[in-house]
Amino acid sequence: MVNKGSSHNRTSSTARFLPRKRSPYAITLYIISLFAFSIFIFQFYTRSMLEEDEQKSHFSEEIQSKQMPEEPLWDAPFSFGLHPCVKPTSKYTAAQLSEHYITVRSNGGLNQMRTGISDMVAVAHIMNATLVIPQLDKRSFWQDSSTFSDVFDELHFIETLKGDIRILKELPKNLETVPRARKHFTSWSGVGYYEELTHLWKDYLVIHVAKSDSRLANNNLPLDIQRLRCRALYHALRFSPPIESLGKKLVERLRTRGRRYIALHLRYEKDMLSFTGCSYGLTDMESEELRTMRETTNHWRVKEINSTEQRIGGFCPLTPKEVGIFLRALGYPPSTLIYIAAGEIYGGNTRLLELMSRFPNIVLKETLATQEELKAFASHASQAAALDYIISVESNVFVPSYSGNMARSVEGHRRYLGHRKTVTPDRKGLVKLFDKLETGELKEGSSLSFHVRQMHENRQGAPRKRRGPQLGIKGRARLRTEESFYENPYPECICSSKRQHEMT
Ligand SMILES: *[C@@H]1O[C@H](CO)[C@@H](O)[C@H](O)[C@H]1NC(C)=O
Ligand SMILES: *[C@@H]1O[C@H](CO)[C@@H](O)[C@H](O)[C@H]1NC(C)=O
Repeated sequence: MVNKGSSHNRTSSTARFLPRKRSPYAITLYIISLFAFSIFIFQFYTRSMLEEDEQKSHFSEEIQSKQMPEEPLWDAPFSFGLHPCVKPTSKYTAAQLSEHYITVRSNGGLNQMRTGISDMVAVAHIMNATLVIPQLDKRSFWQDSSTFSDVFDELHFIETLKGDIRILKELPKNLETVPRARKHFTSWSGVGYYEELTHLWKDYLVIHVAKSDSRLANNNLPLDIQRLRCRALYHALRFSPPIESLGKKLVERLRTRGRRYIALHLRYEKDMLSFTGCSYGLTDMESEELRTMRETTNHWRVKEINSTEQRIGGFCPLTPKEVGIFLRALGYPPSTLIYIAAGEIYGGNTRLLELMSRFPNIVLKETLATQEELKAFASHASQAAALDYIISVESNVFVPSYSGNMARSVEGHRRYLGHRKTVTPDRKGLVKLFDKLETGELKEGSSLSFHVRQMHENRQGAPRKRRGPQLGIKGRARLRTEESFYENPYPECICSSKRQHEMT
């Protein structure tokens, strides 16, 4: 884009060459007319550039997006003036200076730990305890030795939640050796469960929590507890300064390369494909490799998986090629800038090329940042994932090729920040269309495009209340089928003006 700065420079540098002996009046007039002229030139330039752009894209897109205006592809869905609301209600009680302590070992990847830690903040509040800064998982397949303060801004975390709970960096020295109540909290528990557990304080000063993921129910919790979870996740759990600063830098770099970009969470890692048994589009050798990996990984219990059935059921991630077809069918032009947030793509560049042939403007962390900048992140999977997280939350459009903790967290955060556009592929529906492409029943172009757009009209991240449990499932199993609180914190942490008023 030509910007105003350059036209301003043009004016002032020309002015320097004016003959000396003119009256101030004439000079002013001269400058004004020069200025007007340069504005005219500027407008002329930008207009012809835009036209050129349009021509170029029309030329290469042919029929596909002729009727597709640009903005709906990028604009956030209409959000009815909804906004974040995390202030406690008037009934909320401030933190006590509790001498009871909770220590936590967080488990899972980055986003599982982030949401788990936010839940533990709420649990500490319910149980009237002081929270000790959680230990991060060093044993999961992430194999990351990062500590809490490597990944998060520890001081900010403690300060932001000062009015909610007390947080200490370490357990007081005199308590290090006292016996702790070691607990595996029950998954998806409500407030009652944790209130009951306070009886442990009669015998113990310290409770150690072995796992932090999904220990708190998604629904039917007091409004103040839900809002505390949002304060913890969206405000207190900021990434550490080096991560935040590089993340911001990379987002700026993307914005200079193209005005806007899609962040594509391309889940196509070897272990994930092996675990889900999805071998569609792979070579026989690759399928065999994945099958062997599944059979030899002890903690994966399901060994026999029918890949075709998995795919038809919508349980497989889209392949890079399918993502390409999908995004073109939605109307994104080939020039679209796409940032790929991902671990290692199975099949490497060969497989990525199937996407790049449709979208050559693909950027990875490794091509966006310098080696020097990435050095500190190389052996720290969770810190590298934090960069992807920042870039994904800040993107104009977020597209996850598969579901998972990262996809859910980013989607929820984007909803919270103003329902930024998140396009969630209807994998089950898409597979039917892709199969028709293969048999020749359908061709890439306007008719595929029509079906794909229709299928995704209501999958763009527009405001809606969190989904409850699946029908027909009884007992505690229902809790597991509810939409995650962190995938959609509406209604508790997202309000219309009226609602906020009523509630505070
Ligand atoms: C919280 O704990 C402190 C001391 O540990 C106690 O004085 C206070 O009464 C407790 N508050 C509630 C609401 O249980
Ligand atoms: C897998 O499932 C498909 C569809 O149900 C079926 O046609 C195919 O025979 C199955 N393959 C094997 C190896 O069982």
